[in-house]
Amino acid sequence: MDTFVLANQVKIPVIGFGTYKTQDGQDSGIIRQAVEAGYRHLDMAASYGNEAFVGQGLRECGVAREELFLTSKVWRDDLGYDSTLREFKKSCKNLGTDYLDLYLMHWPRPTDLNADWENLDIETWRALEELYRGGKVRAIGVSNFLPHHLDHLMEHTSIMPVVNQIEFHPGYIQKATVDYCRNLGIQVEAWSPMGRGRVMEEPLLRHLAGKYQVSVAQICIRFALQCGVIPLPKSSSPERMGQNLDVFSFAIEQEDMYRLLTLPQIGWSGLHPDRERVAVQEAGN
Ligand SMILES: NC(=O)c1ccc[n+]([C@@H]2O[C@H](COP(=O)([O-])OP(=O)(O)OC[C@H]3O[C@@H](n4cnc5c(N)ncnc54)[C@H](OP(=O)(O)O)[C@@H]3O)[C@@H](O)[C@H]2O)c1
Repeated sequence: MDTFVLANQVKIPVIGFGTYKTQDGQDSGIIRQAVEAGYRHLDMAASYGNEAFVGQGLRECGVAREELFLTSKVWRDDLGYDSTLREFKKSCKNLGTDYLDLYLMHWPRPTDLNADWENLDIETWRALEELYRGGKVRAIGVSNFLPHHLDHLMEHTSIMPVVNQIEFHPGYIQKATVDYCRNLGIQVEAWSPMGRGRVMEEPLLRHLAGKYQVSVAQICIRFALQCGVIPLPKSSSPERMGQNLDVFSFAIEQEDMYRLLTLPQIGWSGLHPDRERVAVQEAGN
């Protein structure tokens, strides 16, 4: 698979496989199926509670560790220096690896929004820097950070994050954050690149799927790529896993990109790092 090059020269496959809820109703064969479909970049997190399940799937898939790009994240309620080092060890043990390709701070603030996030971020980042300097992770980054969180982190630490993983899909493109990251050479990754199904009925997306003879999911994934953003689609079906990688035989025309870029807000998860979660209707409800 094609790769982007992170600011520290580490190569990262341009599409990753999302593993949130992959264990629901599945056995670990789903991870082998994703690797068979062609995914080499997998996105995990301690909070998904399924790293041992993913690790088992990775052992079964028979692909050498160095051919895989594995990401995990330290959860927002485990921020802090000691707890981050502890959580990192746990993730590695569960995944059956002694290093990660990318390790992220999952959110800039703990669930308790009144907690002292400024100091927690700095302490957590010190742990990530130590893991990076010690060769335990090939790259370090953040997730769900807005420009003011990044400003604060970079003012008080020495190594810059090379990735920011944020919610990104047609109808929720977080332009301020993407522009900020682009200016500093921070690679953006898209979580919920299909809005976890919430954007599937959008008329513009359905129109473009017809025009380019692809699915709505493929439009969403191709859209992220053309924005220079790494999509992390999740799927439980081998057919859809394959379809979500089959996005290199067409290109969305500039005029259609403008339509997608200026779509009114749709499909937002209701999650914002500085706010309590806003209830939204999930797809299929
Ligand atoms: N950093 C963070 O805070 C954060 C937050 C959320 C997610 N993430 C990461 O981002 C990944 C992806 O996000 P997500 O799982 O929320 O949502 P998503 O990838 O946007 O959407 C997944 C949903 O779309 C369906 N789907 C997949 N391919 C399809 C296709 N070709 N046609 C029709 N439907 C399709 C899936 O159903 P089937 O499974 O039935 O195919 C599933 O219901 C996660 O797995 C996780 O790794 C990170």
